[in-house]
Amino acid sequence: MPNPTYAPRIQLLSESTTIAISSLARELKAQGKDILSFSAGEPDFDTPKPIKDEAIRALNSGFTHYTAVSGIPELLKAICAKLERENGLHYEPNEILVSNGAKHSLFNVFSALVCEGDEVIIPAPYWVSYPEIVTYCGGKNVFIPTDEKSNFKITPKQLKEAITPKTKILVLNSPSNPTGVVYSKEELEEIGQVLAGSGIWVLSDEIYEKLIYDTTFCSAAAVSQDMCERTIVINGLSKAVAMTGWRVGYLACKDKQLVKYIDNLQSQCTSNVNSIAQKASVVALSKECAADIEEMRLAFKERMEVAYKLFSTLPGITLQKPQGAFYLFPNIQGVGKFGGDSMRFCQELLQAQGVALVPGSAFGQDGYVRFSFACGIEQIQAGIERIARFIKDI
Ligand SMILES: Cc1ncc(COP(=O)(O)O)c(C=O)c1O
Repeated sequence: MPNPTYAPRIQLLSESTTIAISSLARELKAQGKDILSFSAGEPDFDTPKPIKDEAIRALNSGFTHYTAVSGIPELLKAICAKLERENGLHYEPNEILVSNGAKHSLFNVFSALVCEGDEVIIPAPYWVSYPEIVTYCGGKNVFIPTDEKSNFKITPKQLKEAITPKTKILVLNSPSNPTGVVYSKEELEEIGQVLAGSGIWVLSDEIYEKLIYDTTFCSAAAVSQDMCERTIVINGLSKAVAMTGWRVGYLACKDKQLVKYIDNLQSQCTSNVNSIAQKASVVALSKECAADIEEMRLAFKERMEVAYKLFSTLPGITLQKPQGAFYLFPNIQGVGKFGGDSMRFCQELLQAQGVALVPGSAFGQDGYVRFSFACGIEQIQAGIERIARFIKDI
């Protein structure tokens, strides 16, 4: 028998709850149950044709070998051009590193920065993977709670109070999964003022940048020279261009030494991102795809308006209109017998009405649920009708 002493660090990780719930819904569906799932964290659109065409071209021309670990030169250049054009940020190609999705980029950064006992400040509710990776890397999560009253945003005062000599990183996620809030330029400037003079990094997850409604997006790195130097921008193609399965994400960072260390790390575990996906990503980042991206954004906006309006009429539920991403994050504390127990709410809803939502507890915020509107309007209407029936029956 091999030695069953598993590394303690691996036992610290739990399965992503969003993935667990999607799998359960899929299982019930396979058993013939009529399930409407609103747990997805990905656009339901197909990847735009010019991107697919480029992938086919790359494949047919034999672009099927290892590439530089950090990415092919034309992709690094395309990312620099995108950051300059859309975010007003200037980076050199050796300040960019392409990884297997933004999730991989985040893992790389936490691995490279977090020392045993370092504190990482994470506004709650948060995307499920941040605290898991921090724990895995030996760091300590320090959560700053937010709610409707603060519009699900941290205040400069809260940030000041959370900082200790051990603080290493502040994680920002705007537009946010799960709340859909977007930090304004002024709010980011205020955060920058609190951090000025400190050695704290900002890890700015901007993966939902393209999905914004009636507001403007500002990168955390764009508010001042100081913020530019301390911020590691994380972005990718999954959400903006419906490319979740292609696995392309990237980081941009002014500290070339850090980028080099991450390059070393990636070279020892995954090497480069799939060569064909890299070629296709050059097209995805070009102006050629701008119309497709805008079309998807408008479709998401329409779905958001429908979902928000219908959800707002449900008794016992309160919610804020999201400014970005593709989720509603309703407060269910006023619904009947659940006392804000979001897991019980989601389990009973799935059993009674075949509707899959993700409990807020997965995002560090019990009393809420996450409803993804990355699906057709008919499904949204049918799902919310079922939720209304569920609430009426309890
Ligand atoms: C906030 C946030 N960051 C990062 C990711 C990871 O995206 P990718 O597919 O690029 O790994 C997700 C995916 O759900 C996300 O919601």
